[in-house]
Amino acid sequence: MGKGAGHDARRLRSREWFDNPDNPDMTALYLERYLNYGLTREELQSGRPIIGIAQTGSDLSPCNRPHLELALRVREGIREAGGIAIEFPVHPIQETGKRPTASLDRNLAYLGLVEVLYGYPLDGVVLTTGCDKTTPACLMAAATVDLPAIVLTGGPMLNGWFRGERAGSGTVVWKARELLSEGKIDYETFIEMVSDSAPSIGYCNTMGTATTMNTLAEALGMSLPGCASIPAPYRERGQIAYQTGKRIVDMVHEDLKPSDIMKREAFENVIAVNSAIGGSTNAPIHINAIARHVGVELSVDDWEAHGLDIPLIVNLQPAGEYLGEDFHRAGGAPAVIGELIRNDLIHEDAVTANGRTIGENCRGVESQNDDVIMRFDKPLKQSAGFKVMRGNIFDAAIMKLSVISETFRERYLSDPESPNAFEGRAIVFDGPEDYHEKIDDPALGIDQNCILFIRGTGPIGYPGAAEVVNMRAPDYLLKRGVRELPCIGDGRQSGTSGSPSILNASPEAAAGGGLALLATDDRVRIDLSDGSVNMLVDEGELERRRSELEAAGGYQYPASQTPWQELQRGDVDQLSEGMVLKSAVKYQRIAAK
Ligand code: FES
Ligand code: MG
Repeated sequence: MGKGAGHDARRLRSREWFDNPDNPDMTALYLERYLNYGLTREELQSGRPIIGIAQTGSDLSPCNRPHLELALRVREGIREAGGIAIEFPVHPIQETGKRPTASLDRNLAYLGLVEVLYGYPLDGVVLTTGCDKTTPACLMAAATVDLPAIVLTGGPMLNGWFRGERAGSGTVVWKARELLSEGKIDYETFIEMVSDSAPSIGYCNTMGTATTMNTLAEALGMSLPGCASIPAPYRERGQIAYQTGKRIVDMVHEDLKPSDIMKREAFENVIAVNSAIGGSTNAPIHINAIARHVGVELSVDDWEAHGLDIPLIVNLQPAGEYLGEDFHRAGGAPAVIGELIRNDLIHEDAVTANGRTIGENCRGVESQNDDVIMRFDKPLKQSAGFKVMRGNIFDAAIMKLSVISETFRERYLSDPESPNAFEGRAIVFDGPEDYHEKIDDPALGIDQNCILFIRGTGPIGYPGAAEVVNMRAPDYLLKRGVRELPCIGDGRQSGTSGSPSILNASPEAAAGGGLALLATDDRVRIDLSDGSVNMLVDEGELERRRSELEAAGGYQYPASQTPWQELQRGDVDQLSEGMVLKSAVKYQRIAAK
């Protein structure tokens, strides 16, 4: 029996390393190197929980850089509650800095973190999250390993301002680029406008993928209530870092694990919250991935079933006008969840990281500013969730119906016979380079009755799946005032863009999806009532194209540039299935094994 066994209600797993009398050689070896920087035997052998701080911040990851400082407050909280903190790095993922796309690295960071959490003497972990893919990567790893875990986000930047108006990070780029190409601003002003949208440390201040995923992590129950929205430079950010550090030690004593929190009901809560906040179209990919790793059944159809009819009540850019500081002052996630509870749309019994239910945490919490977090009876938009689309081009894709503008509706959906359907001529691009090269070429004859398609941009075709489905209309149409054409593709779309697109089409062209058979000039029919998208090409012709494609060795895409691209391409699932590594899913709750 180990020293101290019988004192503890439960022998913590770290003692297998640091206090195992059955294996004195290994215990001595494990101990000596962790002692050599000043930890004492008393600390490592007294049965106190060893808490990892999974550090995602670095100079390469500015969005998560606040964690380099916040970790100090986390340590103080851990120490205060009787734990020992051990900080370690997580593979960096910077959304804007990583080529070819940051989402390639989500599964790589996941794999690395799984190995660390499983293979080292840790009893619990604080997951430091922030930039888009860092939050899902951390939660996916916590789901697989199932050690007690809590999310601490680094918080968004302060509001950006340009010439007296709120300028949201990411979102302002789309606007500024249009102004630049219309000749209304010069290059200097363009750069200034974009820089001013990012005035402090922190991650994107818009409702892009970062704010979405951190708000959803809180809705899932994986952080302390109110954690997600606190801007990075605010004093409350350091305070909640300290409280998070304290709380994880208790979670270890209570053995409150991710699998106790991330249950089916919690995921349904997340879907409702995502509609209410106007969350990113990347959310279903990441949330479905977390669900798969924790072993909860969740499909893209659940997003339509539990989310489509919920109104958008958070007035943040890109859909609305405000930014992160405003969201926080209006009450953040608890005020949104409070409003959903008043409308009976939350499973209130879902357990959260603080040991209380989400109902106990958020019932009765009200918005402090109805312009920013609105009431259900006066929302920004109705039915803000995702519609699942399918047909002979793909098995599943999603669309935000709420971003369809009035002009779009008038231009395309004006047939009284079938008011929600329209037909158009397909223009097909093979990857982003092909699109950039050809979009302005008059030879394609793109007019306002065309539908733009992009393929070769899914998890295999463009390793990690490119954020390129929101394509702009050609210059000659822009000049005639046609700003938006319907866009469809097997890639993703930036969370900071508000375009009406049908995206995340699965299976992708590179995985044998029907999109590979589509040709420019084909007629395509989209019906928003029944969620169908079909190429109007007869079966014989499709069969002919299929044989031709097979004879050519299938849909062609560029070769891998790195070993990881090749490895991931060999094992990655489609966007509708969370883009997880297929062979990873069977490994669940491995800390207990
Ligand atoms: Fe990191 Fe937007 S680029 S959060
Ligand atoms: Mg992005």
